[in-house]
Amino acid sequence: MTFARTPLFVANWKMNKRVAECAEFADAFGSLLQEIPMKLGETYEAAIAPPFTHLPALGKALAGSGIDLGAQNCGAAKSGAYTGEISPSVLRELGCRWAIVGHSERRQLYKEDDALVLARLRAAIEEDLGVILCVGETLPDRRADRTWRVVESQLSGLAQKPLRPDAWKRVVIAYEPVWAIGTGENATPTQAQEVHAQIRAWVHAKVGAAQAGDLRIVYGGSVKPDNAAALLAERDIDGFLVGGASLEAVTFANLVRNGLKSAVN
Ligand code: PGA
Repeated sequence: MTFARTPLFVANWKMNKRVAECAEFADAFGSLLQEIPMKLGETYEAAIAPPFTHLPALGKALAGSGIDLGAQNCGAAKSGAYTGEISPSVLRELGCRWAIVGHSERRQLYKEDDALVLARLRAAIEEDLGVILCVGETLPDRRADRTWRVVESQLSGLAQKPLRPDAWKRVVIAYEPVWAIGTGENATPTQAQEVHAQIRAWVHAKVGAAQAGDLRIVYGGSVKPDNAAALLAERDIDGFLVGGASLEAVTFANLVRNGLKSAVN
């Protein structure tokens, strides 16, 4: 078995680590990835999204490693009076390839709604950033059988005001069930695959077959070295957005290595 799409492994460090820890992490993680017998940047991709303040130091430490830099959010405007926001052009200037938008912590704790999240996505795409759009249901939603209704409503703005067809090349969707984030309870491969397939079918119907076929849909929520292979073996799971298990270089590298093993089964 080979992968239908290039697997993507993204570390979301959230509000963790000090700036001074970036260089050591980058060195250790970079060396560990080199031991994996698959080519970074060709067979798979990896990225780290640290806090904004760490981007210059981490970007410098990752230079030449093939590991990409990402931001945990992205301003919805080019520039202007938006206290506390970071513009997409500055993220580019700092070397980011990716910006995460709509993480459930932003939605829940900071009340970011779908309109704002999609405005952030559009602003990032305008600057040629890749965007990782997070969607996912809460536990009450799942228990009430509303999972797809919630995910579909989070995506619906992309159908109401379509992106340019070629902009989809820069979009990754992260399915992150809220009940699985940081809880140690991951969605089973079957549960995740079901929603990933629904997302792909939605993009097929609303956007196009080519965009749906190429779209990477990554899973997030308590991904660890010991569940990565089973999840990545599912046909519509194209990588991971990883919080807790991305904070130690050895653990994150093992997660990548184990995940990639599912390609040769
Ligand atoms: P977790 O976080 O891996 O710690 O569950 C995932 C995420 O929030 O992206």
